Amino acid sequence: MQLKTLEQRHLLGLKDKSASEITELLDRAAYWEQSGNKLDPWFQGFFVANMFFENSTRTRFSFEVAEKRLGVQVLNFAAAVSSVQKGESIYDTVKTLEAMGIHAGVIRMKPNGLLQHLAEHVKIPLINAGDGSNEHPTQALLDLYTMRKHFGHLRGLKVSIIGDISHSRVARSNLWALRTMGASVQLCAPESMRATELAEFAPYVTMDEALNADVVMMLRVQLERHEEKAFSTPEQYRSSYGLTVERERKLKDHAIIMHPAPINRGVEIDDELVEHPRSKIFAQMGHGVPVRMAVMERALS
Ligand code: CP
Repeated sequence: MQLKTLEQRHLLGLKDKSASEITELLDRAAYWEQSGNKLDPWFQGFFVANMFFENSTRTRFSFEVAEKRLGVQVLNFAAAVSSVQKGESIYDTVKTLEAMGIHAGVIRMKPNGLLQHLAEHVKIPLINAGDGSNEHPTQALLDLYTMRKHFGHLRGLKVSIIGDISHSRVARSNLWALRTMGASVQLCAPESMRATELAEFAPYVTMDEALNADVVMMLRVQLERHEEKAFSTPEQYRSSYGLTVERERKLKDHAIIMHPAPINRGVEIDDELVEHPRSKIFAQMGHGVPVRMAVMERALS
């Protein structure tokens, strides 16, 4: 494997990533998916810290599984039982773990923009596990991996991203990466959940138009991030923007359903569709492990 610079080993987002960089990560994830549970002795002796300043189930545990499958020593940092509770900043926390000799850091946090600043002030690679509404690059990589595995290609796919676009780092990372890989993206959201700055990259369409796609990606309504009430009731949201059983019948025969999860069952997607034959939702979660192995391998290379 070719030696990489620190800048090439960070994964802060996908907006600046080329098609060849994304393809290399997806190919390497396919390698790790096929390689079973073998530990790679090369990674023994590396220490990696998973620093989650925001809650997580999928991202946190799939990074941990990925790191352990690689044979890396894992330090799990939880803000709730750390000196963050005494007022220590994210910056000082990362610098502290760097001083102890970790070789890479996985970080999830609320602020937008802080990750770039951190990356400029540390000498270890940082991997973005979701920052504010900015990017969630490993989620989008596993989403692309899932689409490529199903369709055999990404170029030419039409992907509809439906729901709470304004708060969604998943939507942004998917938008950047899918465009780079030659897919077309359309967005669908109520006025109160639109990110107008994205309209120049992907058009906003009606719900009926959004159903005419190869991939229908539903997003969670992120109630915890809404300062004002974005819709009157969950039933009203479901009726206007939810993927209901009735709407599923209008999808193209070959279309697949995706969702990054966690899911609000019965709000953005009907309960019956979560484990429907079209649904890739749990497959997406499984793909998180080999994709994060590829990302961690790149960081430690
Ligand atoms: N999809 C996702 O990021 O899930 P978690 O918040 O559980 O990590």
